Amino acid sequence: MAEKMLGKYKSRRNSARLVQTDAGRFVIKTFAQEESFQKELQIYRLLQDKELPCAGVIAADDKTLVLTELPGRNLVECLQQQEKTGVPAWEVWEKLVAWLVAFHRHTGFVMTDVNLRNFLFDDKTKMLYGLDFEECGTCNMMLPAARVAAFIRTYKPENTVLKQEISQYVLELFARSCEMEAESLFLESARQEAEILARRKNRI
Ligand SMILES: Nc1ncnc2c1ncn2[C@@H]1O[C@H](COP(=O)(O)OP(=O)(O)O)[C@@H](O)[C@H]1O
Ligand SMILES: [Mg+2]
Repeated sequence: MAEKMLGKYKSRRNSARLVQTDAGRFVIKTFAQEESFQKELQIYRLLQDKELPCAGVIAADDKTLVLTELPGRNLVECLQQQEKTGVPAWEVWEKLVAWLVAFHRHTGFVMTDVNLRNFLFDDKTKMLYGLDFEECGTCNMMLPAARVAAFIRTYKPENTVLKQEISQYVLELFARSCEMEAESLFLESARQEAEILARRKNRI
């Protein structure tokens, strides 16, 4: 089938590109590692027919997934926009928590790479989507909850009042919906923040 490349997404480990074909627009994700490809495919299979907003798998072969194109902007862009206006969009963060909790319920796995580029929010339909499932674990919800809040605080400019407010709200929502002790969750999130900042420093 004829295929026209429309763009490349930011991807550190793999390659993800948007293409136009006769049958429509699709995202083609090619993995660097076979293991990661198999893991992501396993999760997509577990999510099939579940009511969790995510891409559909059109084809899977040779370390490559062909996915339906999701609408919306990633949450790094959403957060930047909120920083500009100074108004937190609470609905986005409520949907993020609900999505991560539902992901655990439906798959039995937790998503551990919860950087905010792995979530898209569509302003028109108010739908939130998750993607990038190659790193999933079997631990409890403490890790993704603490880490996603740490990610919220550490995008530049780091730890603004708005980011701290959103992070606190997210942690409180997780503590309530997963029956976790709030104090342990806040402590774990501080540990995750230190880890994210150290990793970033080492990369430069
Ligand atoms: N189905 C999709 N629809 C729209 N955008 C997507 C889709 N899949 C991936 N992307 C975009 O591509 C980027 C990289 O994809 P991702 O699966 O996160 O790869 P990586 O493992 O390299 O981080 C995402 O941050 C997102 O912006
Ligand atoms: Mg990603």
